[in-house]
Amino acid sequence: MAIQSSEFRQKEKIEIHIYSSAREASSLLAEEIAVLIRKRQSEEKPVVLGLATGSSPTRLYRELIRLHKEEGLSFQNVHTFNLDEYYGLPRDHTESYWYFMQEQLFKHIDLPAENINIPDGLVKRSDVFNSCQDFEKKIRDLGGIDLQILGIGRTGHIGFNEPGSPVDSRTRLVTLDSLTRKDAARDFLGESNVPYYAITMGVGTILDARKIVLLAWGQGKSEMVARSVEGPADEKIAASLLQKHKDVRFMLDEPAASQLTRIKYPWLVGPVEWTTPNARRAVCWLSREVKRPILKLQDENYSEHGMAELLTEQGPAYDLNIKIFNIVQHTITGWPGGKPNADDSNRPERSNPYPKRILVFSPEPSDDVLGMGGTLARLQDQGHLVEVVYMTSGNLAVSDEEALMASDLMMELSDSSDAPSIAMEVKAALSSGDNKSSNDAVRRLKGLIRRGEARAALRIAGLSSGKEHFLDLPFYERGRYRQFFPSSGDFEIVTNLLREKQPHQVFFTGEGLDPSAVGAHCCALIKAAIDSEMDSPWMIDCRFWVYQSPDKDWPIHDIDMAVPMSPAQLSQKIQAIYQHKSQRGQTPAVAQDLHEAWQIAQTTARQLAAYYDDLGLAEYEAIEAFRRFIP
Ligand code: F6R
Repeated sequence: MAIQSSEFRQKEKIEIHIYSSAREASSLLAEEIAVLIRKRQSEEKPVVLGLATGSSPTRLYRELIRLHKEEGLSFQNVHTFNLDEYYGLPRDHTESYWYFMQEQLFKHIDLPAENINIPDGLVKRSDVFNSCQDFEKKIRDLGGIDLQILGIGRTGHIGFNEPGSPVDSRTRLVTLDSLTRKDAARDFLGESNVPYYAITMGVGTILDARKIVLLAWGQGKSEMVARSVEGPADEKIAASLLQKHKDVRFMLDEPAASQLTRIKYPWLVGPVEWTTPNARRAVCWLSREVKRPILKLQDENYSEHGMAELLTEQGPAYDLNIKIFNIVQHTITGWPGGKPNADDSNRPERSNPYPKRILVFSPEPSDDVLGMGGTLARLQDQGHLVEVVYMTSGNLAVSDEEALMASDLMMELSDSSDAPSIAMEVKAALSSGDNKSSNDAVRRLKGLIRRGEARAALRIAGLSSGKEHFLDLPFYERGRYRQFFPSSGDFEIVTNLLREKQPHQVFFTGEGLDPSAVGAHCCALIKAAIDSEMDSPWMIDCRFWVYQSPDKDWPIHDIDMAVPMSPAQLSQKIQAIYQHKSQRGQTPAVAQDLHEAWQIAQTTARQLAAYYDDLGLAEYEAIEAFRRFIP
């Protein structure tokens, strides 16, 4: 629903700009910064930029580097102040924000070293207050921040201003929220390695900037974005306090904007073109809103909820209800690979050919069973030729403790002198100093751990061995979080596999994620490979299905295929997820009380089934959801 009219913005208390991609938005912002820098250069004046770390600004920094290298943009007159730094981390720690900024921006441009300001994470506890005061004074002495770049955390934090941060707070030492620490756990290879404290600019410090731009990409940000923009300005969500600023805007991609009223419930804020998808969305919403199954909705329910026009166009309620009910009903199938010898005119997948050659792409081992463990087992049971493709090794998501345990085990098996050399190498690396986890042997062993787990999970799902492929895509092996750069080599591996296998059905995931996430890179590679194969004959007979990543909330109106699970099938899926032991406790929680990936997957699948039930459809134990992708 492309909504342009300004009346759709009536609920928004912050200026919103929505872009088709993070890249497009980041280029525009980089250009805006370049114009500011050049203007000040011509006036012989400095520019003061407030910078953030994290995934959100990485594309912006890449573009600034490009402008420096290719278009001669100089940063000689620029001063920078970073929002925050972990307390207790030395500058050369790979997760310190100092290190991050060097790698992502500073070492690639001509910004004078003395113009860089990042809170000192190693200052003695007794000196923290003075150090923070000095930081603030320095900002003031330079005339204040011209442009402050922000990201937003899952707690709604800006900088490290966690819930409860006062609107007039200044640069200070803070305790990190447990959700924030969980989100950082992957970067630190385990939650126990994440610092508890940080030094951050305060909300008041941020609000003093002349202009503020907040960047947010991916569906994971959508809820906090909507609450900050449409909810009250409240210390519970630091980003909502930005409503108090005169010159602030949020630059979003479409998934990050997806919870705004103008996108989610546009009929509540203005007229809507009542296409069938829009009508389906509105009717599903109405059914839940008034707590009535679709077939029991009445004319007054529609007219009392901003949908009178829909009724005039497509009503009465009775007709509209039946139309939408049938559409939703037809998404449900126990035959995700198509039902052989059956009428398929109202089924999501065609009956022929049977059996189908099916490829399931999993960005990291475990994404497959988390998103579609039940469906995977069904496809196999129903006689299809299923193969699972693990695109990356996933070794970055294995803790050092896990690798040590595995190497200990290997060493126990033989006396340590002739223990397998990889075990000795891993042990030596992990007992040494810094950057131990990036050691090749450590990553290899961690990758092998994940292979073993993936195979165990597939066994539970009923797939015999030999049906799995481990691509170990080079972009992942060469990279680390936030520093993945897929290249033509990755693309060729994926394309060649598709060409070789000529599948009839392809399942993949990763839509709507933060574009720097592993899953998002994998998704982009698959789409590029599909694009390049558009003219190949096998494409004519292939359907593409996107599966849900369980921590992403998919609205029911967007689901094209819903595969139900019985209680036994759900517990089989959970058993399969259990096999990914190295991932236990590592998945960021979507809700505070859900820590484990299996819990999230179980809850998501059960909630979806309950939702179908609420709409008046059959009641199942759990449901897995798919969207059709039409190239
Ligand atoms: C970073 C910072 C944080 C991040 C936020 C979002 O300096 O202060 O507020 O902006 O946690 O992080 P990403 O961009 O990694 O999602």
